[in-house]
Amino acid sequence: MNSKDLLQLTEQFGAPLYVYDADKITSQYKKLTNAFKGVPNLKLNYAAKALSNLSILRLLNSLGSGLDTVSIQEVKLGLLAGFKPESIIFTPNGVSLEEIEEAAALGIQVNIDNLSILEQFGSKHPDIPVCIRINPHVMAGGNSKISVGHIDSKFGISIHQIPHLLRIVELTNMNINGIHMHTGSDILDIDVFLYASEILFETAKNFKDLEFIDFGSGFKVPYKEGDIQTNVDELGKKLTTRFNEFCKEYGKELTLAFEPGKFLVSEAGHFLAKVNVVKQTTSTVFASVDSGFNHLIRPMLYGSNHQIINISNPKGKERYYSVVGYICETDTFGSNRRINEISEGDILCFQNAGAYCFTMASNYNSRYRPAEVLWFQGKAHLIRKRETFDDILHNQVDVKGLFESPKKQTVK
Ligand SMILES: Cc1ncc(COP(=O)(O)O)c(C=O)c1O
Repeated sequence: MNSKDLLQLTEQFGAPLYVYDADKITSQYKKLTNAFKGVPNLKLNYAAKALSNLSILRLLNSLGSGLDTVSIQEVKLGLLAGFKPESIIFTPNGVSLEEIEEAAALGIQVNIDNLSILEQFGSKHPDIPVCIRINPHVMAGGNSKISVGHIDSKFGISIHQIPHLLRIVELTNMNINGIHMHTGSDILDIDVFLYASEILFETAKNFKDLEFIDFGSGFKVPYKEGDIQTNVDELGKKLTTRFNEFCKEYGKELTLAFEPGKFLVSEAGHFLAKVNVVKQTTSTVFASVDSGFNHLIRPMLYGSNHQIINISNPKGKERYYSVVGYICETDTFGSNRRINEISEGDILCFQNAGAYCFTMASNYNSRYRPAEVLWFQGKAHLIRKRETFDDILHNQVDVKGLFESPKKQTVK
C-alpha cells in the first residue's frame, strides 16, 4: 500500500485512523519462519499484546502461528479468533493462581515465572504440564522499560534458583514440558540472543521431559533509514545449528519457539492524524494533530522515534516542525523533524504504528479511541469502529439524585 491509498482511507474512514497492511504481516511471518527453516519443529507464537484486534489474530492463525498471551482476556480473544487451545501459551507476570488455573482449564499451555505459584500450581495440578520462565540475568533490550531479563527485573525465575525449583518439581511430581526466556525488546546485537540461549540450554539439561524451548522475542525492526535491525537470517543460521546440536545431546527433537510481536506487526501499521493547527512560536514551529498520547504513547513513554510523513504534501519543501498532540500535557510525537511543508488540514502518517500503539491507547481527556482498518489484497476492511460518546459513558453508573445541582446564585 502507498501514501495515496492511506490518504484515501482517511477520506473514507476519517482521522485519526490506524491502518494495518496484511501483506506486510504475512511477509514478516514468512521471513522469520524462513530464517529458521533448518529447525525441524519451529513454532512462532505471535505476542498478542502487540496488536490484539480479532482480525489480526485471525490473520496470524491462518498463517500457522500460535499465540503468546499475558492475560486471560488475551487467551479468550485468541480462542475467539480460532486458535486451538494447544496453540496458545499463557505467559503472565504477577497474576493470581486462579487466573493461571482458568487458562489451564481451557487447555492452554501455562508458563509460570515465580516459585510461589509454581509450588501452589504443582501441588494442586501435578498432571498439568507446565513451562517455566527463566531469568537468565542478561541485560538486553532497547531501553530500561523493555529490558526484562536482568537481575533486577521482576520477570522469570532466576537461574540461581534452579536448585529450589527442582525441589518443587520433585516434591510435587509435576511435569515441566517447556522452558522459556524473554530478555527484552529491541535487542541490538544477535550475540545477546546466542549468549542467553546457551544459558537456556544449560538450564534445559535439568529437565528430562521437555517438549519445547521458547526463546522469547526481542527482534529489532528499523524505525527509520539506517536503523539497526536484527539480522534474522544470521541469527537463524547460528541458532539453528546450536539448537539442532543441543537436541542431539538432549536425545530428543524439541520444538524451538519464539514469541515475536514487534517483528510481525510494527512496520505493517500506519497511524494517520490530521493537522489541526500550525503554530509558530518564538523558537519552534508546532504542528498540532487531532491526537495525542491517548492514541500513540510510545514516543512519550519509551522515547520511540516514529517517522512522521506528510502524505498530503509529499513533494512540498522540507521544513522543521515539532509534531505535538492535543492533550493537556506536553505530548510531543517528534521534535525538530524535517517534514514536507505542513498546512492545517494535512494528514500526517506515523510509521511503525502496528505494535504497542492501538493496544496502549486510552480515553484520556475523554477522547475517543480511533478506528482500525485492515488493508488486505488491495481492499480496506474496517476492523474496529471509531468510538462515540456512548463508549465514553458505557460503564459509567450515573447515580441520579445523589448530588443536587447548585441553587442559582444571585449576585448582590
Ligand atoms: C514475554 C514476552 N514475550 C514476547 C514479547 C514480544 O516482544 P517483541 O514485541 O519485542 O517481539 C514480549 C514483549 O513485551 C514479552 O514480554
